[in-house]
Amino acid sequence: MYRLLGVGRVVIYNTSCGPELNRLLHSYSQEGFVEMVPWPIDKHLKPAWGWNILEYPGDVHYFGQVTTLNECMYRSMRRSRYVLLNDIDKIIMPYQHDNLTSLMDTLQPQHPNTGVFFIENHIFPKKHFEPSQRFHLPQWSGVPGINILEHVYREEPDRTAYQPYKLIVQPRMVEETSIHEMRKNFGERFKVPPEVCRIIHVRVPLQGSLTLEQLKVDKRLWDFHERMIPNVDNVLRKVGLLSSDQQK
Ligand SMILES: *[C@@H]1O[C@H](CO)[C@@H](O)[C@H](O)[C@H]1NC(C)=O
Ligand SMILES: *[C@@H]1O[C@H](CO)[C@@H](O)[C@H](O)[C@H]1NC(C)=O
Repeated sequence: MYRLLGVGRVVIYNTSCGPELNRLLHSYSQEGFVEMVPWPIDKHLKPAWGWNILEYPGDVHYFGQVTTLNECMYRSMRRSRYVLLNDIDKIIMPYQHDNLTSLMDTLQPQHPNTGVFFIENHIFPKKHFEPSQRFHLPQWSGVPGINILEHVYREEPDRTAYQPYKLIVQPRMVEETSIHEMRKNFGERFKVPPEVCRIIHVRVPLQGSLTLEQLKVDKRLWDFHERMIPNVDNVLRKVGLLSSDQQK
């Protein structure tokens, strides 16, 4: 998905990794699309295993995420125009542009002195499946993980509560970042309207009491299915996760 959206490189900080994902990441890094940064923080410190330090004590907050984000920004300063400070399970999705390049080519001239763009997070509860099962594909039945194409029901964020934004930054305009906020930057900051760009985040519900009827149907990901499915099939086949008898 990142590649289809025009991302040129993905940097991943790797503390540990299961066998299937490991094969995929090795394949993507051989192509040069993924840059793996070894991050064996657990060999040196006792990292907290969750974001909430009250629940998960440790020597360093959540595997040192704040450090990795800042390291990534400085690593990218001379080579990338923009950096998305994102998580592996979130897609920063433009809703009015074909990809992130055209999105930024529109936003930047409208906000010339801006180096920090905040993107709102939208949760697609993984317990609700799209009923037609159009993208419940047989060739993926043996692949671990979630098929994001099957989850099209979206919670409307509760904007009276704290919003965990993600950031698109011009790294040269940033001095120090945090996870959902900016600590020190040069120039302006802008909250991108959700109808222009928002995050697709398939996970457990945040507002678990909402019924299906109270969720919004959002099939934006489906606009990419024609390019996404063959690409996913190819990479799965390459690393042996798509067995030949399961192919269409
Ligand atoms: C982004 O979308 C524009 C407009 O459709 C297109 O011209 C351009 O080639 C796309 N860029 C990438 C990197 O996909
Ligand atoms: C990720 O880190 C683990 C633990 O050090 C290592 O065994 C594995 O090969 C690494 N994977 C990639 C894709 O770099």
